[in-house]
Amino acid sequence: VTDLSQLTLLQRASLGSGVGMWSTQSIPEAGIDAVSFSDGPHGLRRQPTGEPLSGGESIPATCWPPAAAVGSSFDVELARRVGAAMGREVRAAGVDVLLAPGVNIKRTPLCGRNFEYLSEDPHHAGRMGAAVVDGVQSAGVGASLKHYAVNNQETDRHRVSADVTERALREIYLAAFEHVITTSDPWTVMCAYNRINGVPASQHAWLLTTVLRDEWAYEGVVISDWGAVVDRVEAVRAGLDVEMPTSGPQWQADLDVVAAVNDGRLPEALVGRAAERVLTLVQRATDARAATPIGKVPIDEDGQHALAREFAAQCPVLLKNDGTLPLNVAASIAVIGELARTPRLQGGGSSRVNPTRVDVPLDEIERLATGPVAFAAGYDDDGRVEDPELIVDAVEVASTADVVVLFVGLSDSEESEGFDRAHLDLPRGQLALLEAIAATGTPIAVVLVNGGVVSVSGWESQASAILESWLLGQAGGGAIADLLFGVVNPSGRLAETIPLKLADTPAATNFPGEGGRVSYGEGIFVGYRWYDARDLPVSYPFGHGLSYTTFGYSDLDVQTTGTGRALAIDVTATISNTGAREGREVVQLYLAPAGGDVARPLRELRGFAKLALAPGESRPVVFRLGWRDLAYWSVATASWEVDPGELRIELGASSRDIRLSGMVALPIPDRTIVLGPDSTLSEWAGSSHGRAVLEDALSSDVPRSLLSAQALETLGSFPLSRLAKFSFAGLDPARLTELAETANHAIA
Ligand code: BGC
Repeated sequence: VTDLSQLTLLQRASLGSGVGMWSTQSIPEAGIDAVSFSDGPHGLRRQPTGEPLSGGESIPATCWPPAAAVGSSFDVELARRVGAAMGREVRAAGVDVLLAPGVNIKRTPLCGRNFEYLSEDPHHAGRMGAAVVDGVQSAGVGASLKHYAVNNQETDRHRVSADVTERALREIYLAAFEHVITTSDPWTVMCAYNRINGVPASQHAWLLTTVLRDEWAYEGVVISDWGAVVDRVEAVRAGLDVEMPTSGPQWQADLDVVAAVNDGRLPEALVGRAAERVLTLVQRATDARAATPIGKVPIDEDGQHALAREFAAQCPVLLKNDGTLPLNVAASIAVIGELARTPRLQGGGSSRVNPTRVDVPLDEIERLATGPVAFAAGYDDDGRVEDPELIVDAVEVASTADVVVLFVGLSDSEESEGFDRAHLDLPRGQLALLEAIAATGTPIAVVLVNGGVVSVSGWESQASAILESWLLGQAGGGAIADLLFGVVNPSGRLAETIPLKLADTPAATNFPGEGGRVSYGEGIFVGYRWYDARDLPVSYPFGHGLSYTTFGYSDLDVQTTGTGRALAIDVTATISNTGAREGREVVQLYLAPAGGDVARPLRELRGFAKLALAPGESRPVVFRLGWRDLAYWSVATASWEVDPGELRIELGASSRDIRLSGMVALPIPDRTIVLGPDSTLSEWAGSSHGRAVLEDALSSDVPRSLLSAQALETLGSFPLSRLAKFSFAGLDPARLTELAETANHAIA
């Protein structure tokens, strides 16, 4: 690593583009090393030669539970451990930066890449994402927080403009990034492919500089998503540091940057600024390599696999259970569904890991069972087409068993990076199978295998139990068996709502857009915020998940200290395991702001904690809320605001299962109203000083009647300047500024 002034302009520009597919450029003559990258986000995907098209798979690595599963664990410590376990393998492979995690919000369940994302809620995605970054970086490698920002669909992802208000950006789409950046300092941030309000993310100065650097004080390196840069000169101007994977043929984009500086179109300092950040990244990577040399990180594949099983078992969500689960080990079990024999571990695309081994659910169930286990495939590989012969076989196997464990779900042909889904249904052949098996009367425990949400409303009444296992990585088979038999008690919770139907979903009428633009018409009402605001029934709400034990909530206590920005609210309660098994409860804290002038969601997640409790055990849960937790983005003031008034604090087992709640009055001073000629008659009348000044100015009784309740009803919305145009008002337009000054002075 060297001093910038020793580099030529072209060398400085060249630090801003990758080489090959997976690294930045080195400048050996200046002693500058390259920094290497690998996907991400649920394990290491390292091509043997470092090139993508070298044929063959990436080097074997542990395939960890993908983000959709990790998100459902609602377990920050687990997310950190997953990150650290991934980081160790990345370090061992000699790679510097893992392209993880993805914290894009699940705006629609149709997004083909939802398996790579954590949540429909920004608080949750931010906390879990920060924990992944902390874990990865604890292993001496960097993380890359992606895809910044508003990359919520795959359809036309390289061009589409996500048209979204600043309030929705701040509260929903940027909030998780903000939290991760300000608390966990990822080495790099990866910009998204899409445009935001017309401007490509790779060239978005407001996103890359105003918000990321000026407001959040980020000092790391912004890399582009692979091929996201449209115009490199504009990207550098906006604040992008490195174009990946290269600068184009003959280093064209590097030369463009040099030319732009030479002819005065681009300030040289901007190129230097980007190069300097890259040098800092090189230094970070060099230090980390020296601290943990490659040979010093032995990877124990068995140990990693065992960890992957432990992690995976914390993620699935028990949606429904009439007591069929946990299974009796001695029961006669019919395992049905090709997915039990040919498991799906992960989604398709750039995240695909070549696993070191694979647990097959059927084998793992056979291993734990002491009674007979029979198997029938029930459908061919993806189950899209109904196969009458396979269904007949499956029905025969089901009829003689005590219980059916039915594996159904999505295949790679139905969800992947690169395209979005068209519907939420399970494949047709699988639905036909389910119906035929239900007719046997044998109780069915359904195991769902899918990265994005599938609809359950058409068939769930036929299932005695449903375990949503998501995609669980290479050890998912063992984890599913552990959960089915109760070796592990299910403790996952939904990080995304399961809607009754596609038409109910927030983006249903605004997805995937038209003419290259997608309007985020639902604004801040994303996920449960939408279903709550519309008072829509759902199949399973955000935060839902059952356990083989039960939990009690008691002793809510809310204490407020400080005022204004120093405000702190401490919330405590006691959580008890009221059942007979060890289990984990996810306690969720929601804030329900009382109505003011601004539209607010009915409730918003502002805290969650996962507690392990022995039967009969009680433990306290403690949350601390600060001013910012209470704030919304004010369009009027273009800043975060907290309104005075009352607030409901809720503790619940899901967003629709609130167990305790209490009201607090917020010690927030009333906002000072600044009056002006364009303030309305009502605004003047609503301020005691404004009213007094106006009463004085309205010299006779007739104009004064303007301040009567009746007149205010019809004329109150008139700005004073416009009311002054009516002669009956008796207001001198030329005096309005002076009146406002008098009133404001009195208010101050
Ligand atoms: C994906 C990124 C990934 C990159 C490198 C892109 O297509 O959007 O998530 O990290 O490729 O493989």
